Amino acid sequence: MSKTLQAIRGMNDILPAQTPTWRYLERTFADLLDGYGYHEIRLPMLEFTELFARGIGEGTDVVDKEMYTFLDRNEESLTLRPEGTAGCVRAVLEHGLTGGGQVQKLWYTGPMFRYEKPQKGRYRQFHQIGVEVFNLPGPDIDAELIVLTARLWRALGVQDAVALQLNSLGSSEARAAYRDALVAYLEARFDQLDEDSQRRLTSNPLRILDSKNAQTQALLADAPTLADYLDPESRAHFEGLKARLDAAGIAYEINPKLVRGLDYYGRTVFEWVTDKLGAQGTVCAGGRYDGLVSQFGGKPTPGVGFAMGVERLVLLLETLGQVPESLGKAPQVYVCTFGEAAELAALTLSEQLRESLSGLRLWLNSGAGSFKSQFKKADKSGARYALILGDDELAAQVVGLKPLREEGDQQRVAWADLPAVLVNCLEDVKQTQANH
Ligand code: HAM
Repeated sequence: MSKTLQAIRGMNDILPAQTPTWRYLERTFADLLDGYGYHEIRLPMLEFTELFARGIGEGTDVVDKEMYTFLDRNEESLTLRPEGTAGCVRAVLEHGLTGGGQVQKLWYTGPMFRYEKPQKGRYRQFHQIGVEVFNLPGPDIDAELIVLTARLWRALGVQDAVALQLNSLGSSEARAAYRDALVAYLEARFDQLDEDSQRRLTSNPLRILDSKNAQTQALLADAPTLADYLDPESRAHFEGLKARLDAAGIAYEINPKLVRGLDYYGRTVFEWVTDKLGAQGTVCAGGRYDGLVSQFGGKPTPGVGFAMGVERLVLLLETLGQVPESLGKAPQVYVCTFGEAAELAALTLSEQLRESLSGLRLWLNSGAGSFKSQFKKADKSGARYALILGDDELAAQVVGLKPLREEGDQQRVAWADLPAVLVNCLEDVKQTQANH
C-alpha cells in the first residue's frame, strides 16, 4: 500500500469548523481599517531572495535560518515571503506610490513562511494581517496605528488579555554607538554568555537583549541601556508618541529590551503581548522603518507599520471564549423533494427564490432520500423552515412550509406567494427590486 500523504509539518489546514472565526477576524479588521482610511494591497507570496536578505537583514534569524529559499527553473533564487513589509516596500517603490511625498496607508493579509520549530502559536506557514504607512514621519501616525489596534482588541473582546510594550531604537547612529557599548560590555563577560548569545555577539548583538537565558538576563541587568544613547530627535519623537497614547488613554509599558528581530527598525518599536497563550504570546508587533525605502533604492521615505498573527488571535479568541456564537451561517430554508419531477421543479423554484429574495440562505436537498432522512438533514442543517415538494404539491403548484425551530403545523403556500410569505417570517431577508 502506498504511504498516506500528509501536510508538511507546521503547515496547517484550516478546517470548515474554524474558517468562520477566521472570516470574522478578517472582516472585523477590514471594516475597522476602512473606517480609518486604509486601503488593501495584495502582494505576491514569492519574491527574489535578495529582497529579504537586504530588507530584513543578513544576520537575523529570519534570513539566516528560517527562509524557504529555492532556485526556480531559470536558476533564480526565490523565497517564500517570511513577512510582508519588504514586499510592500518593493511594491510601492515599483509602482511609484510614494513618489512626491504621497502618503500611503495600506493593509494586507495572507500566508507567511518561516522554517521555525513548530509549537502552539508558532507555525511554518502562518498568516498575518499587516499595515504599512508611508511618508508620515511624525509620532502622530505611530499613535494612530496603536490606537487602531487597541480598538480592534475592544471589537474582538480581548482588550483585557493584551498589554502594550513600547521602546525606541533611536537613529541608526545612536544604535551603532549603543551596539559598540553593549558589545564592549558583553565581550568582557563572554564566558558567562549562553552559546546562542555568544554567536549573536558578532552577528546581531542587540538580539542578545531578548535572550531567554536566565544567566544572560542577569548579566544584562547592569549593561548599558539603549535609552541612554537615544539621539535628541528620537527622544522627542518618542515623547510625542507617549504623550499621544497618554491622551488617548492607552496604557503601555516601556520595555528597554524590546529590539525586535528584523533589522529595518529605527525609533518606535512595539508589541502587543498576552500571557494567555504560553510561550508564543506576541499577537501583534511592529515599528518604524524610515531607512528601508532608501535601502531599496528609493528616495528617503518614512515608513511605519505592524503585523498581527492570525493563528495567535484565533487561539486567543478561543481561549477567552470570545468567538461569537452563530458565526457559521445556518440556512433559513431547507428544501426537501420527493420524486424526480418534484426534484426538477424544486431546482427552478429554489433559483427563483434566490433571485427574488436577497439575504436568503436556501439549501436544496441533494442526493434524494426518504422523507425521514431528508427531514433529519433539514433539522441538522439548523434551518428554520423546511419547504416540502412532492407529487401532490407539484400538481397543485404549492409547497408545504414547515417550521423546524418552533411548534406549528405545516401550511400550504402557493409558489407565487412564497417570496412574500418568506419575507414575513425571516427578518434578514429582503425582496429584491425586480420583484416589487
Ligand atoms: P514579526 O514580529 O516577525 O514582524 O511578526 C509579526 C507577528 O506575526 C508576530 O507578532 C506574531 O503574532 C506573528 N508570527 C510571526 N511568526 C510566526 C509564526 N512562526 N507562527 C505564527 N505566528 C507568527 C513582522 O513580520 C513585521 N513585518 C511586522 C511589521 C510590519 N513591522 C512593520 N510593519
